[in-house]
Amino acid sequence: MPYELTQEQRDKYRATSIRSQQRKQALQNRKSVKHESPLRGDRLDPADLMPLLPQNGLSCMSLFSGGGGLDLGFERAGYDHRTSFELLDICGETFRLNRPDWDVRAGSAAGDVTKVKFSSFRSVDVVHGGPPCQPFSVAGKQAGAQDPRNMWGEFVRCIQQVRPRAFIAENVVGLLDKKFDSFVQHVIVDPLQGQYTIFKFKLAAHDFGVPQARRRVFFVGFRAARDAARWVEPAPTHGDDGTLFGPLLPRNTARASLGLPSIGYDDVAPTLRSGFTGPRNTTGILNSKASLKVWNDLRIWPNGVQRTHELAVAYPPENGHFRLSVEDCALLQGFPADWKFSGAVYQVIGQIGNSVCPPVAYAVARQVAKALGAVE
Ligand SMILES: C[S@@+](CC[C@H](N)C(=O)[O-])C[C@H]1O[C@@H](n2cnc3c(N)ncnc32)[C@H](O)[C@@H]1O
Repeated sequence: MPYELTQEQRDKYRATSIRSQQRKQALQNRKSVKHESPLRGDRLDPADLMPLLPQNGLSCMSLFSGGGGLDLGFERAGYDHRTSFELLDICGETFRLNRPDWDVRAGSAAGDVTKVKFSSFRSVDVVHGGPPCQPFSVAGKQAGAQDPRNMWGEFVRCIQQVRPRAFIAENVVGLLDKKFDSFVQHVIVDPLQGQYTIFKFKLAAHDFGVPQARRRVFFVGFRAARDAARWVEPAPTHGDDGTLFGPLLPRNTARASLGLPSIGYDDVAPTLRSGFTGPRNTTGILNSKASLKVWNDLRIWPNGVQRTHELAVAYPPENGHFRLSVEDCALLQGFPADWKFSGAVYQVIGQIGNSVCPPVAYAVARQVAKALGAVE
């Protein structure tokens, strides 16, 4: 769907963009000026939030694989990843960069799930995926089933053809709005009724150590009643208060996780913009006007993300706040530093913002493996 701008807004954006390009050029020409990195070096390593588990004997495949958030979480939880399907070539490149030995089907010919017959994947234990969320996002028009990007029917068709022991689907919480009750019932629940016991629940990324406020809804389905009976939702690992089971780890906040010096204030980052929406080719992660205040309080600049930290440091924003690099955005989303993204900065930001935070995917994957009796 085209992003709608008035001529006035277009002119304003163009003027800002020209001004910022000129400033960047001027700063880059001042080669003699040495810009000092504010980073202290002790950054969060998101890999610590999801210790690599031994193989659990379960195989899995993914649909709508994007930049690999769900796939990575499942892999680290001990699953044998079989195949990923993704429409965008650039996401396929990301997978090839990180997991050259995986079977990745990307692009409009091989990766478009609408063209795939899934019956040959019958031996796969678990299917997971995050169907495009734009049709249900409050940031969009919430056209639901009328939106051509709605792919839930395809996800359900895949489950009917593969008949996995369990499935997991992730989406924006907007899908739980009353106005989508009938959609959820008719498109997701009814076609799988009698074959799967389905649970739906919300998770917040910051409850699992990710330094970002990000809530998402999950649907988990089990074919066997015995497995469904063993299902327990993932419990938070991080938070400000303890639980019945004991104290939680302290919440990870944005500045501390990035390794920035203390300014006497810190908090989790606002939700990063879900990629590929908003102004085309943007390199900003700002999700809403309201979140700008939090970014300001954090003294982090959510626009003009740079490819590397060195470039970000060499191009400080006018207000002196910390400019983010793509590695910083990946960290704020819970990706370990060794997971690389392919593409131009706006495409990388898109893949990051669209992804399931890997530590959240890991928490769900672990609970599913327990319910399936694969691990204690
Ligand atoms: C919300 S993102 C998924 C993010 C992913 N689960 C992760 O954790 O990184 C949805 C993805 O579905 C892809 N997609 C949309 N239509 C598709 C189709 N017909 N076939 C395959 N993938 C599609 C989009 O390109 C996008 O990358």
